[in-house]
Parts: sequence; structure tokens; C-alpha cells
Amino acid sequence: MNQIINILAIESSCDETSAAIIQDGKILSNVIASQKVHESYGGVVPELASRAHEKVIVSIVQESLINANISKNELTAIAVTQGPGLLGSLLVGGCFAKSISYAYHIPLIQVNHMEAHIYANFIESPVPEFPFLCLTVSGGHTQIIMVNNYFELELLGETQDDAVGEAFDKIAKLLGLPYPGGPLLDKLAKTGSPSAFEFPIAEMKNYDFSFSGIKTFVSNFVDKNIKKDNEFVKNNLNDLCASIQNVLIETLMLKLIKASKNTNIKNIAIAGGVAANSELRKRIIENEATLGWKTYIPKFEYCTDNAAMIAITAYLKYKLGKTQSNYEVPNPRMQL
Ligand code: KG4
Ligand code: ZN
Repeated sequence: MNQIINILAIESSCDETSAAIIQDGKILSNVIASQKVHESYGGVVPELASRAHEKVIVSIVQESLINANISKNELTAIAVTQGPGLLGSLLVGGCFAKSISYAYHIPLIQVNHMEAHIYANFIESPVPEFPFLCLTVSGGHTQIIMVNNYFELELLGETQDDAVGEAFDKIAKLLGLPYPGGPLLDKLAKTGSPSAFEFPIAEMKNYDFSFSGIKTFVSNFVDKNIKKDNEFVKNNLNDLCASIQNVLIETLMLKLIKASKNTNIKNIAIAGGVAANSELRKRIIENEATLGWKTYIPKFEYCTDNAAMIAITAYLKYKLGKTQSNYEVPNPRMQL
């Protein structure tokens, strides 16, 4: 009889504390606690983030075990995010996972957070066929990755400055929206016109991106218009959101379409927090009819930070025998 594989996975790289249980490749639970403490600062404060992880990690892990109806003695392995992320936050999850691994004599599987975002596409069927291109878009990353096989990834291009999620958040902030602004900007854009205002797209080589210029452009544009009309932002908020979202998503689509044409790969996946954006999801799917793409989009809860994506990545690693013998220190700048 085959042994049942139960893996407990922990994610604590930024401002979400999450724990998930995966059994033989099926997610049984995925508990996420989002930290509210950063809202009044307009961005994540690293020291506050690590303290908030410490406060909830035990109860989040317990809840994930209860929801999955699994006891600690039944665990086959424990998985945790190694990086990239905030060092203090990564250490909280890393030390917790290391202790469980020692105490219960089970292997520890450390996972790359960005790789895990991609494998969120393998949580539910249909899973992407190899090779596929993945547009990974989050608060810290904007990458186009060619995935040739399990754990055979090739970075085709990435942002040279701000990530697209960061651009969403920073622009939302200068429009007076609370952090994180991305989801709210998406919501307000629904009742605005994407062609109300025209914003430029940064020209970058190959498959690279740049999003810091658009933030400065919008800032200057808003300042100029406020001089003429004090209520400019308030009176045009939805149109501003729709026009900004339009240029940000258009920038991503242009490079993704270019990569698909040049590599002749039509299996296209998206991943990361910005993959929750309704306009991006719509445009990706539209290309099924126009460009013959086969597209893969994770469920909303598997796009933003969650432990289920760490769990599926760890499960795939375990099945492929990619386990490790030593605990490696968290790596805030971990590359793919
Ligand atoms: O992957 P994620 O949860 O954390 C990181 O690893 O960074 O991504 C968070 C980012 C934030 O910048 C947030 O504003 C953005 O994803 N985001 C969105 C939406 N939902 C989350 N951006 C645009 N539209 C959304 N609906
Ligand atoms: Zn993330």
C-alpha cells in the first residue's frame, strides 16, 4: 500500500501569515491571516511584519491542521518559503518549520516564493502543459518565465526597477487610496473609461519592463491638473483608475505577446498578486480566440500570497525526490 503524503506548508515572506495542508497533491486547507498593522503607514513596515507573524503563526498552523483534520503525527514533511521576501518575516516561518522538522523527525522542504507563485497553476486541473510561459506579477516582481519542465525555468525578462504591483500601489497612494491600492484601483476602474487619459508606455529592450517612470508621470500629471481644479482627482477618480490600469496591463500584454510569438509557445499562465487583476485576466483569456492561446489562471485565493502554493511546490519537489538534507538560511533576494 502506498503511504499517504501529508505536507504542512508555511508562507511568511511579507505581510501574510499562511499555513496549508496538502494530501497526495490535494489542498485540504489554506488559512491566511493578512496583517492590518501596515495600513496606516501606506506600505509594509518590516519590523512590524515579523512581530505580527510571530503572534499568529501558532494559531494559523493549528487552524490549518484542524481544517484538514490531520494531526502533527501524520505529517510526512514540512515546507516553508526560503525567499525572496523580508528577512525577519522569512526567519519566523523558517525557524518554526525547522523546529517542527526536528521535533517530528520529518524532512524540511524550503521553497522559492516566486517559483511557488508559478506552481499555483498546478493546484487545480487543468494544469499547464510544458513548455509554457508564465507572467509572474506581484508586489515585488514582474517576470516572464519560460517553464520547460518541472523546476526547469528560464527567465526571459523582468522589471528593471519597480514591480507592476508596486506601481499599482504607489499610484493608488498618490490618488489617495489606502494600501494596498491594487485591488481598490481595479474595482474603481470598472466604472471608468480606459481611454479618458493617455499615459505613456516605457520602451524597454527584449522582454524587460520599467514601471518607475509611469508613477512619476502620473504624479506630475495629477499635480498639474490639481493647479487648475482642486477637486481633479475626486472628480475623475474612476477614469484615472481605468486609464492607469489600462496602461499598466497593456505594458504587460505587449511583452507577453512578443514572447509568445518569438518562442512559439501558446500555453500561457499568469501568477502572483496582480494576476488577481480583472483586466489582466480578461485580456489573457481574450487571446485564446485571437492568438490561439491556451491559458491558465489560478483561483483568486491562490494568486495573492498563500501557503497552498508553497504546499503544491513542496509536494512536486517531494515526488521528484528534490528534498534537501540541511536547513538553509532564508534568502531575502533569492533568485529563480
Ligand atoms: O503576490 P502578492 O500577494 O505579494 C507579493 O509577493 O508581492 O502580490 C501583492 C501585490 C500588491 O501590489 C497588490 O496591490 C497587487 O498584488 N494586487 C493587485 C490586485 N490584487 C492584488 N493589483 C491589481 N489588481 C488587483 N486586483
Ligand atoms: Zn508573492
